[in-house]
Amino acid sequence: MFLQTKPLTTQLALKLAAAASVFLALLFFFLPHDATSRIISTPRVDLTADRPSSPAPSGPPPTPRDVIPNTVHFVYILPDGADNFNFQFSHFLSLYAAWHHWRPDTIYLHTNVDTTGPEIARARNGTAGKWNGHIFSRDLGFDLRVNTVPVPTHAGNGMELQNMEHRSDFVRVKAVHDLGGVYIDWDVHALRDLRPLRESGFRAVAGRQLGGQINSGTFLSTRAGRMIALWMDGMHKAYTGGWTTHSNEVITRVGQRLVRDPAEREMLIMEREAFAPGSWTAEDTDELFGVRNVTSNLANYTAGMALPEYEEEFEARWDRPEDFPDWERDWSYTYLLHAFTPDRWSHKVEGFEHITPRYVLERQSNFARAVYPIAKIMYDKGLIGVDDSHEG
Ligand SMILES: *[C@@H]1O[C@H](CO)[C@@H](O)[C@H](O)[C@H]1NC(C)=O
Ligand SMILES: *[C@@H]1O[C@H](CO)[C@@H](O)[C@H](O)[C@H]1NC(C)=O
Ligand SMILES: *[C@@H]1O[C@H](CO)[C@@H](O)[C@H](O)[C@H]1NC(C)=O
Repeated sequence: MFLQTKPLTTQLALKLAAAASVFLALLFFFLPHDATSRIISTPRVDLTADRPSSPAPSGPPPTPRDVIPNTVHFVYILPDGADNFNFQFSHFLSLYAAWHHWRPDTIYLHTNVDTTGPEIARARNGTAGKWNGHIFSRDLGFDLRVNTVPVPTHAGNGMELQNMEHRSDFVRVKAVHDLGGVYIDWDVHALRDLRPLRESGFRAVAGRQLGGQINSGTFLSTRAGRMIALWMDGMHKAYTGGWTTHSNEVITRVGQRLVRDPAEREMLIMEREAFAPGSWTAEDTDELFGVRNVTSNLANYTAGMALPEYEEEFEARWDRPEDFPDWERDWSYTYLLHAFTPDRWSHKVEGFEHITPRYVLERQSNFARAVYPIAKIMYDKGLIGVDDSHEG
C-alpha cells in the first residue's frame, strides 16, 4: 500500500514495484507474527502523516476536550397543580448509586420548580416524606443542584408536546448538550463506574435496547458534542407525538451514522447488556423483579443487626457453581441497570409489589441482588430501615 504514496513515473518502476509487493506479500505469510506486525505498522505511519487533522484510533491519548465531564443529570418535571415531588425509595436508590459509584462533580436536577419555592422547602424540611427529604438533603454527602428550566410546550415543528415524558425528553437532551455529562432516567441503577467510558475519547456513548434501537434513557456526551447537537436539532423536526419518534429513533439514526468515521470518535454504541439488559416485556420484568423461592437474607433479622456482604470473587461462578442458582444473573458486564418498571404496562410480577428496602435487602430477585450492595451501604448509614415504605 505504501508504494502508492511514492511518485512512480516509468514502466520499469511499476514493474519493480509489482515485484516488490509480491516479495512483501510472501514475507508477510512466512515471517513469524511479531515480524509481520512490525512490517504492517510501517505504511500505517506513512499514511497518517499526510492527514494530521484526523488521528487514527490508535493515536495519541484523548485530550480533555474529548473527556465527558463527571456530571450527572436527572430531570423531574412537576405536573401542573402538583404541590410536592413524588420521589420514592427507588429514586433515592438510583441517585445514591450514581453518587456512590461515580463521585460526580455535580448532580443536577433539572426541573420546572423554583429553587426557593415551597415544593423544595417542604421536601428539604422533611414535611414531604422521607425519600423527598433524602434526595434534597444537604447532609448526605451529595449536593443536588436544582436547575430551574423552562419546560417546552411545543416542538420546533409547531407540534404540541402532549405529555410530561416528552417534555422531559427535550429538557434532558438540551441539558446534556449545554453542560455535558451523564443522563440517566430515575429507574436506572448504576452498578459500576463509568469513568473508562467517559474517558474513552468518544464524545458520546449510549447503548442498545431490546429490538436494537439505542435507548434514550441513558446517555453520555461531551458538551455540544456532534451527536447530542444533531439529536437536539433533529428531535424538534422529528416530533410526531409518537412515543419514541423524537427520542430513541433520532439518537439511533444520528448515533449509528456517526460511527462510520471512527477517527472522529463522535459515538460509541454499547451492547444491550451494558445499559439496558432487561426490557418492558412481561418475560423480562419477571426475570428481573420476580421473587424466587430462596431463603431471605433477612430470615434471621433482628432490629439493627449487621447485614452480610456478598463479595463475588472472579472465579467463584466456575469454582462453586452450586452456590449460584440457575436464575441468578451475572451482572459483571452491566454498567447501568435500566430497570423498566412493570407498573407502567400493568403486568403483575409474581411476588413483587414495589421496590421497598425490605424487597431489596431480602435478595430474592435479580434486581434485589444487583442493587443490594448500595442498599446495604444505606442501611449501614441509617438512611433506610427494613420496614420503610416505598413512598412517603
Ligand atoms: C416546611 O416548609 C414549608 C414550606 O416552606 C413550610 O410551610 C412548613 O411550615 C415547613 N415545616 C417545618 C416543619 O419546618
Ligand atoms: C420452595 O423451596 C422449598 C425447599 O427448597 C420447597 O420445599 C417448597 O416446596 C418450595 N416452594 C415453592 C412454592 O416452590
Ligand atoms: C439463619 O440462621 C441459621 C441458624 O443459625 C443459619 O443456618 C442460616 O444460614 C441463617 N440464614 C441467614 C440468611 O442468615
